[in-house]
Amino acid sequence: MYGSGRVIPSLIVFVGLMTFAIWYNAGKAQQLPDPEKPAEYEECVRDTQFMRKSHMVLLHEWRDDILRKSGQRTGVTASGLRYDRSLQKGCMNCHDDRKKFCDECHDYAAVTPDCWGCHLEPTKEAR
Ligand code: HEC
Ligand code: HEC
Ligand code: HEC
Repeated sequence: MYGSGRVIPSLIVFVGLMTFAIWYNAGKAQQLPDPEKPAEYEECVRDTQFMRKSHMVLLHEWRDDILRKSGQRTGVTASGLRYDRSLQKGCMNCHDDRKKFCDECHDYAAVTPDCWGCHLEPTKEAR
């Protein structure tokens, strides 16, 4: 039969991929990342669920919009708090400890965004 030699191995790989997250995470359930929430603020620039999944999309949107389109450098949260649409002066103004926040998840997910080579990372002391 056409292709039958490949169907079974493909199925095995497919099922393995689909369940990977489950058995991979089961082994280290105790060490899930626990990013430190900013003490002084109640809300993020978008809802938490969106931020968890799509903060990188938002960052790129801000950058492209500021540098190539509207030039709009500020935004307003749902409850009316004004913020800078900026990695340094926005995100890191509220999330001011990169190690305890950004890196907490990124180390876990094994991603290393290459933003810090150019963008400064304000420290609590510097503010
Ligand atoms: C005005 C302050 C403020 C700004 C600006 C801000 N955040 Fe947040 N962010 C918060 C707060 C407060 C929370 C926690 C909200 C909650 O408890 O649900 C949060 C939550 C998050 C979360 C979810 C964390 C989790 O525990 O799952 C991510 C990811 C995040 N922010 C990333 C960013 C990024 C990236 C930026 C810049 C694009 C940014 N934030 C800008 C205050 C801010
Ligand atoms: C709740 C966990 C969590 C927090 C907190 C978090 N991130 Fe992330 N971030 C991730 C995950 C997971 C990915 C990879 C997701 C993917 O590739 O789809 C990622 C990817 C990114 C990327 C894209 C990386 C690339 O190489 O394309 C950027 C940029 C980024 N994060 C910036 C930030 C910044 C800045 C902060 C701190 C203000 C932050 N993140 C906080 C979980 C988090
Ligand atoms: C090669 C250097 C370089 C790297 C790497 C880099 N940027 Fe930038 N970025 C810039 C410069 C230069 C500007 C323009 C600064 C301005 O006009 O405010 C900018 C502007 C931005 C802005 C809008 C203005 C602001 O103050 O934040 C955002 C958002 C941004 N970058 C996000 C990112 C993210 C997220 C990453 C990592 C995935 C990243 N950048 C990596 C150089 C860099």
